[in-house]
This record gives sequence, structure tokens and C-alpha cells, in this order.
Amino acid sequence: MELKRRQFLAWLGLGALSSLNLGCGGRGFSIGTLLEPPAQGEASAPPGPSDFIMRNDLGASPRLDAATGTPQRLLNFGHLSDVHITLEQFTFTGHPKLEKMLDGFGEEIGFGGLDRPDVQEKYDVDTLRAMVKTLNAADPPLDFVINTGDAVDIGTVPELVGFLSEMNQLNCPWFQAVGNHDCLGLGNIPPEMLENFTDLDFLNKQEFIEKHFPQEAHSLSRTAFGSQAKGFDFSPASHGNPPEFLGYYAFTAMPPVSGGDGRHTRPGIRLYVLETSRAAGKALGHVGKEQLRWLKEELGHHPRFLGVVVSHHPIGRIEEGREELRNLLLDHPQVIALVCGHEHRHRIQAFKNTQKPGTGFWQIQTGSLIDYPQQGRILEIYDRGNGTGAIRTFVFNQQANGQLGKNARASFRSAAGERFDGSGSSEDRNVELIFPMPLLF
Ligand SMILES: [Fe+2]
Repeated sequence: MELKRRQFLAWLGLGALSSLNLGCGGRGFSIGTLLEPPAQGEASAPPGPSDFIMRNDLGASPRLDAATGTPQRLLNFGHLSDVHITLEQFTFTGHPKLEKMLDGFGEEIGFGGLDRPDVQEKYDVDTLRAMVKTLNAADPPLDFVINTGDAVDIGTVPELVGFLSEMNQLNCPWFQAVGNHDCLGLGNIPPEMLENFTDLDFLNKQEFIEKHFPQEAHSLSRTAFGSQAKGFDFSPASHGNPPEFLGYYAFTAMPPVSGGDGRHTRPGIRLYVLETSRAAGKALGHVGKEQLRWLKEELGHHPRFLGVVVSHHPIGRIEEGREELRNLLLDHPQVIALVCGHEHRHRIQAFKNTQKPGTGFWQIQTGSLIDYPQQGRILEIYDRGNGTGAIRTFVFNQQANGQLGKNARASFRSAAGERFDGSGSSEDRNVELIFPMPLLF
């Protein structure tokens, strides 16, 4: 690709190349139908094109050697996190031994989900169903949706069955990451311990993963991207019978495209989904050496793919392996983002590589569907053509109509009345995040 000096100078102004000019046909992204005008404290619809805050915290600059010359939208996907489908009839009544055991944990760990208002637990499935309908209405359609863990709350099989039956109504493929509530009772306690105190069927990691394999229900993601199990069939597994799946996996969302001269005209995009739960118990995250080795090898084999890493825990909530993971991601310039949840709040942070100014990655955290503000997120990845790229992302509430929408809004209003507010600041919500394109040639 040959760049004329005049073109290159035009690309030097980051502001001059807003995503509005990125060749998406002048058409904004739309999703669902807004029923009521958003107001302070009300559920919000997707923002208009001018409502995005541009962030270049990484200090990315246009550069000729990484420029494809063609501004283009590469991928758009939905992000849900911490849905926390709850076994609403669960109480301590009838489980005095369990209550005593939990009291023994003292203040060290929290079991916040146990005292959520009833209306949020009552309408948890409706809130998810309404969000699935809203995601299905996205225009242009989403390439896929990813849930970054905590599908369930108490950690039981019936909760997961409820979650899966709603998610399988998505009209696009969807992928799952393991959260601490998905394999530890109440997000903290090894399931076998809890089963000694109750007659409930608690999930361990293997059971959680196996439930994602095709059973009676069929969904589009049986074949999309080659996965038949929401990504878990890509996970390394033991050779046992049945095999034990480790729960982390990678897949290619988009292969790179080469031009006639053998050069790339479009980068590929690959997702690396981590498994950060801690089998021994406790809500904080853990990334073991074996998983880090796997990730390093994966990234090493795919330098021409933009890398989006996905996990339940944000880096700051990973207790074991935090520094190793952060450094591994910073060492690979193709990694543009870590998409995660866990804290039930929107938050976007830049992780800069201080050794190489102008590089690093974005950590994008999304709130929960059970706690305020009950929002999901859309992420659109652009190549700006000039050696930089952008992740344009926004948050939104469900937009379903009829009784379903009413029920979900009742849950939203209840959450709005709680003390917890996971909205974050405006810089954590509707933003355009600039990143440096890796060298693709
Ligand atoms: Fe959670």
C-alpha cells in the first residue's frame, strides 16, 4: 500500500478521523425501540453518534508502517456480565448448619446476593429475557454475545438451566466465561462443602461447563465459529473419560485478509477467554501457571490478530497470577482489550506499557443485570486505517415492550432504590477508545 504524503498528513489528526467517518455507511447503531424518553435515574437507550467521549489514554499515534489505509468496522459484539439468575426460594430456613458455617466466615467475605430485594430476584429471568430480545434487535446484527461469568447466584443447577434457556434464544452465537458464582457456592465456597449442609445440587466447574454442551436444546452457536458448547469445546481437556475441561479457550472471530501484494489489508481478531475462578474457594481470581503458558503460546502463534482477552475477574481482583497476566498482555502489542465483569460496575481503565510509550491495552468492565444499573454493553472494533484503531462501546438497558418490559423495569426501579450504584463515570460508559494497531506486515 502506498500512502501519498497528503493522505498521511490528513490522518495525523486523530480527532479528524472520528468513527463517524469510518465507512459504516453514515448509519448509526440502533438497538431495540425506546419506549420512554430516558431521564435522570431512568433506564437508558443507546446513545446517539455524537454522545461518545474519545479517550486516547494510551497515547496512540498514527503510524505509516502499521496503517492498512482503509478505515473500516471489523466486528461488533454484545457483552453481558454477572446475570446472577437466583434460586429465589433459597433461604437459610431449614439450613441452620449452613447459616452457622457462613457466620463462621465473619466479615471477610460477602454474600451480598442473599439480601437482594425480592422483586429483583423475582424478575431476574424476565430481565435477562428482555435483554436477549433487545440484543436480538441490534442493527447491524451482532457477530456474537459474550457473558463474562456469574451466570448464576447461589450456584445451583436449576439456576443454570434457567440462564441457558434464556441465552439460547439469542439469534447470534454466544460464549461463556466461568465466574466465581458459577463453580463456588454463594461465589465463595467449594460446592461439596455446601452439599453436606443442604439437599441442593450445587455446581462445580466441570458440571457448569458440561451443561453448555448440546443436550436437547439447540441453538445457532452449535456451529457458529465452529463451537458446539459456547466455546468450552475449544478448551484444553484431560484425556480422561469423560474428559475434564479446563475452562479457558480461544477462537478466531475474524481471519486477517491479505491484499494482492501479500500484505494484510485487514487484521484478524481472536478472542482469548480465561478461567479465573479459584477452586479452593474465595471470590477473588486466580490464573495458574499452566493457563499463563497456554495464553503466551496462543498469543505467540497469532501476532496478526488483534487480541481481545475475556475473563470474569478484572486484573485488580486477581489475587494469584495478577502481575504475570498483566505483563503477559502488555508484552503482546496485538492485545487491545481485556473485557470483564465481577465488580458489578462499569469501569474502563488504560493499562499502559511504560517501556513502550503509546502502547498498552484497555480493560473494559461491564455492570451486572441484577444490580443497578442493569445494563449490557456493545463493543464495536474499528480499524482507523492510519495505524490506530478504536473500540467504540456503549451501555444500554433492555428495551422490551409489553408485560416483559414492565417486569424488567420493576426490577430496574428496585435496583435504583438500592445503595449500590455500578454506573461508573461518563468515561466508563459511552466511549471511543483509541489503540495502536500492531505491525501487521
Ligand atoms: Fe457477580
